Amino acid sequence: MSANTIKISPSLLSCDFSRLGEEIQAITDAGADMIHCDIMDGHFVPNITFGPPVLASLRAHCRLPLDVHLMIEEPENYVQAFVEAGADILTIQVESTRHPHRLIRRIQDLGCKAGIVLNPGTPEDSIKYLADMVDMVLVMSVNPGFGGQSFIREMLPKISRIRDMIGDCDLQVDGGIDEHVAADVIAAGANVLVAGSYIFNHHSYAKAIRLLKTARHT
Ligand code: DX5
Ligand code: ZN
Repeated sequence: MSANTIKISPSLLSCDFSRLGEEIQAITDAGADMIHCDIMDGHFVPNITFGPPVLASLRAHCRLPLDVHLMIEEPENYVQAFVEAGADILTIQVESTRHPHRLIRRIQDLGCKAGIVLNPGTPEDSIKYLADMVDMVLVMSVNPGFGGQSFIREMLPKISRIRDMIGDCDLQVDGGIDEHVAADVIAAGANVLVAGSYIFNHHSYAKAIRLLKTARHT
């Protein structure tokens, strides 16, 4: 896989929220491909972030696609609001709804791309029947809720199995990604990397993004 097929989605969770507009501009200038927005409700995960009004306000200041990762209970009650706020892709946790197939279809019917996410403990069989319909599969490589956690290495064979399952579909990995882990997940078959603390703690966002995009085992 060549470097230009790897896409980087910086997670705003680790940015300076008091300067949200400037941070988005900086990662855009640094070569990000999309912007990862982590939506947490204090129920599905033990943390709270932001909702549709904040997404709508950053949409107005951002030309990159908004990659919106919903970590919320009863996502069916909120997807329309997130689409109207400007999400380009809405990714739902398979564990968060009784009828993932119905919700994926509904998001797509609203004119938005739809992705499905699996927690580290969720087997890939649970999304097999969705593989042909989703626009992206996201493998969580930490337990969702917080930035700055360590990559769970047991996710590598799972990423490979999901790549075999989904063909050319986008395969995103989220949690604990740095330039070393990036080489491992790319070798396993990932082509979209989320990174929060690695990028926002780096002295150069551009260098961090470049190192992630070009990370390979030699
Ligand atoms: C965690 C979030 C991630 C998080 C990743 O629940 O879904 O997107 O921001 O942060 P890092 O890259 O610091 O592990
Ligand atoms: Zn995320």
